[in-house]
Amino acid sequence: MADLTTNFLGITTPNPFWLASAPPTDKEYNVRRAFEAGWGGVVWKTLGEEGPPIVNVNGPRYGAVWGADRRLLALNNIELITDRPLQTNLDEIARVKKDYPDRAIIVSLMVPCTEESWKAILPRVAETGADGIELNFGCPHGMSERGMGSAVGQVPEYIEMVTRWCKENYDKPVIVKLTPNITDIRYPARAAKAGGADAVSLINTVSSITSVDLDDFCPEPAIDGKGSHGGLCGPAVKPMALNMVAEIARDAETAGLPISGIGGVTTWRDAAEFMALGAGNVQVCTAAMTYGFKVVQEMISGLSDWMDQKGYESTDQFIGKAVPNVTDWQYLNLNFVTKARIDQESCIKCGRCYAACEDTSHQAIWMKEGRVFEVNDAECVACNLCINVCPVEDCITMERMEAGQTDPRTGRVVSDDYANWTMHPNNPAAQAAE
Ligand SMILES: Cc1cc2nc3c(=O)[nH]c(=O)nc-3n(C[C@H](O)[C@H](O)[C@H](O)COP(=O)(O)O)c2cc1C
Ligand code: SF4
Ligand code: SF4
Repeated sequence: MADLTTNFLGITTPNPFWLASAPPTDKEYNVRRAFEAGWGGVVWKTLGEEGPPIVNVNGPRYGAVWGADRRLLALNNIELITDRPLQTNLDEIARVKKDYPDRAIIVSLMVPCTEESWKAILPRVAETGADGIELNFGCPHGMSERGMGSAVGQVPEYIEMVTRWCKENYDKPVIVKLTPNITDIRYPARAAKAGGADAVSLINTVSSITSVDLDDFCPEPAIDGKGSHGGLCGPAVKPMALNMVAEIARDAETAGLPISGIGGVTTWRDAAEFMALGAGNVQVCTAAMTYGFKVVQEMISGLSDWMDQKGYESTDQFIGKAVPNVTDWQYLNLNFVTKARIDQESCIKCGRCYAACEDTSHQAIWMKEGRVFEVNDAECVACNLCINVCPVEDCITMERMEAGQTDPRTGRVVSDDYANWTMHPNNPAAQAAE
């Protein structure tokens, strides 16, 4: 069986699956059961400064997006950081860490943006024996209006400044958790690195309104007839998270900066994808909230089976393996020509591919006598929309044209050579270069 042991920032855990800072990690009772279920580490629910505990709403705190089968695709929350007393959390962290030395406990922190506030909390966290801290610069609701969370994460200079304070006043690893609510993730990541961060973790939740009650005309979750934006997480945010992880992994200024991947990880495959794009481990929240702590056992066995099948003995062997294959559009091979192919045996004659191609693509699917659907290569631009709307998996596939064949759509002979936009005759910049 493949060895899932993961070393992230010198912290060794039995597997790369950590629980993200959120309700699953907000107390000793939960974290102990999470470790018993098999989680490799946890990031404790964000702690705030000493003082009167945080106040949460007393009505619903979640909105949701469901698939047609009512599978939960996303949660939208308006919960704040921990509302339990600081010392209670610190005592519990110390106790659990002592009993589970082989698991990671990272303490998530969010205090006001002053050096005194950070200097006050860091020694108290250090005393717990936790393995490191994660700076919550990501929470987009409630705390951001008080100048914390994403209000810090949206200003690279603040990220760098606070990270530096933490590095100067705390000896163990400092992970900076980034908000996706920005235009270009590379700037906050670069700022974290400049401040001395040992790693970045991403993404925190995406600012969102999931739905509006059309009787009360109120965004959900509704609190006495009013709603506010919340933070979106779960499977629906994974594509955005993957892209941001990849952007950081391939940016020359942050390449090599360790990344903890977060956002919609529900299965072992999601985790493997984050890791292939450069994440050294993953953090999970919504999947645990949807399926319970034991979901990690499926992740562990799935990842381990896949690694065995592929011949990977350790996670290091595939971490970052997809990064060299992430490129900019302008470098994609324009000589890569494919055509759609419909497998008549598995086709159920629903006609979705026809409607999609006829009305919104390139009128490249014929509907013949008896609802037989066939592709007209002379019109097919290979967009693959038909595959994506077809309800039968693998019923439509894309077939690559071989070099020497003539593409009936363009009349051009397909070439083996690699040719991208930077060298294309229609590109004014390419012409100027000549
Ligand atoms: C109810 C709830 C509370 C959360 N609280 C925190 C928090 O206190 N600190 C933090 O850094 N992230 C918090 N998060 C964000 C998660 O840690 C994580 O970044 C996000 O949910 C994306 O991961 P997922 O798609 O696996 O849920 C919270 C998420 C949820 C759903
Ligand atoms: S790949 Fe695009 S253009 Fe070709 S048949 Fe499918 S939908 Fe039409
Ligand atoms: S969408 Fe798929 S199943 Fe439906 S007609 Fe087209 S090929 Fe057949």
